[in-house]
Amino acid sequence: MKLKNDTFLRACRREEVERTPVWIMRQAGRYLPDYMKVRRDHSFQEVCKTPELAAEVTIQPVEKIGVDAAILFADILTPAEGMGIDLAFSPGPVIAQPVRDRKGVEALRIPDPRESVPYVLDAIRLVRERLDGRVPLIGFAGAPFTMAAYLVEGKSKHGFPGIRSMLYRDPETADLLLGKIADMTAAYLAAQIEAGAQAVQLFESWAGLLAGREFERFALPHVKRIMEAIAPLGAPRIYYAGGGGALLHLLSDCGADVIGVDWRVPLGEAWKRIGQDMAIQGNLDPCALFSPADRLEAEVRTVLDGVAGRWGHIFNLGHGIQPDTPWENARLLVETVHKLSRWGVR
Ligand code: CP3
Repeated sequence: MKLKNDTFLRACRREEVERTPVWIMRQAGRYLPDYMKVRRDHSFQEVCKTPELAAEVTIQPVEKIGVDAAILFADILTPAEGMGIDLAFSPGPVIAQPVRDRKGVEALRIPDPRESVPYVLDAIRLVRERLDGRVPLIGFAGAPFTMAAYLVEGKSKHGFPGIRSMLYRDPETADLLLGKIADMTAAYLAAQIEAGAQAVQLFESWAGLLAGREFERFALPHVKRIMEAIAPLGAPRIYYAGGGGALLHLLSDCGADVIGVDWRVPLGEAWKRIGQDMAIQGNLDPCALFSPADRLEAEVRTVLDGVAGRWGHIFNLGHGIQPDTPWENARLLVETVHKLSRWGVR
């Protein structure tokens, strides 16, 4: 089936587009009144595990905000349950028995996604059917280091000292853990693409916690392995490196087609460090969505100026949208990106 709007996929491939595509990390979520309506009657986990509900909230931002891509509604921790992790949300992830030692790592299973997350794959099929080619659907997973940060800590904790101390105290166990997460993730993303995801993003939200040497040693090889494993499936691959400004020069051969960058590095500079033969995604500060309307336009212009008319830019925030963002401003952002990036204007 032909897509009515394939600007996102074309930008991933650095092809020409009539206007810059835009989507918003965490675009399905609490800032949207429609999402909160669904959450009144259902827990976050229920929404994730009920294809009907997951499909509904996945499509909400396409209809309400006008984004150029949908992203599957789930969490980066969702597939950890199939590895044997007891997971709850309150609202962030809470793991009953964090993975702290060799025994804990050895006990982790590498599940078949068709058995462990059938609801995710069903949600993807349902979203594709309901989108009916309006925009493409992005699948996603957490990158191994970021996943490991949660599995070892058991919850969000500033700096995630649990995984970082494991890298020094017991690097062999850290390798085993990261490798198992990578194996699970490669199978998970492949299953998502086979079910209908037309691109995938690996969220390395905590890239910025690592020095270059540790990033190269513990994070990057696993990312590469996942990217290579799914390459034959042909779906564009995005690697989002949160806080990764100091690591950008290491990312040119991570195997992704697109690098997602946060707001701390101007895009022109980021592109220089990554290399011009990759596409780039980003990078408005999520808090810029609290600007008055005329100021927001100036902020969007600053991001687009950094791109300087090159092909291969996907507009996004540099991090997930804040739950208290006025939703109308998210819609204004999309309209503004489209208006300022039309052919002839660039
Ligand atoms: O982008 C989307 O719209 C798709 C859905 C999505 C969610 N989480 C839904 C969610 C995606 C892609 C994620 C990824 C995710 N989850 C990341 C990586 C991106 C990032 O923000 O850096 C991380 C680190 C997580 C782990 C996680 N899940 C945290 C830290 C939290 C709590 C923080 C918060 O926002 O309150 C969650 C919960 C979560 N994941 C919610 C949603 C909509 C809130 C749950 C609710 O509805 O109460």
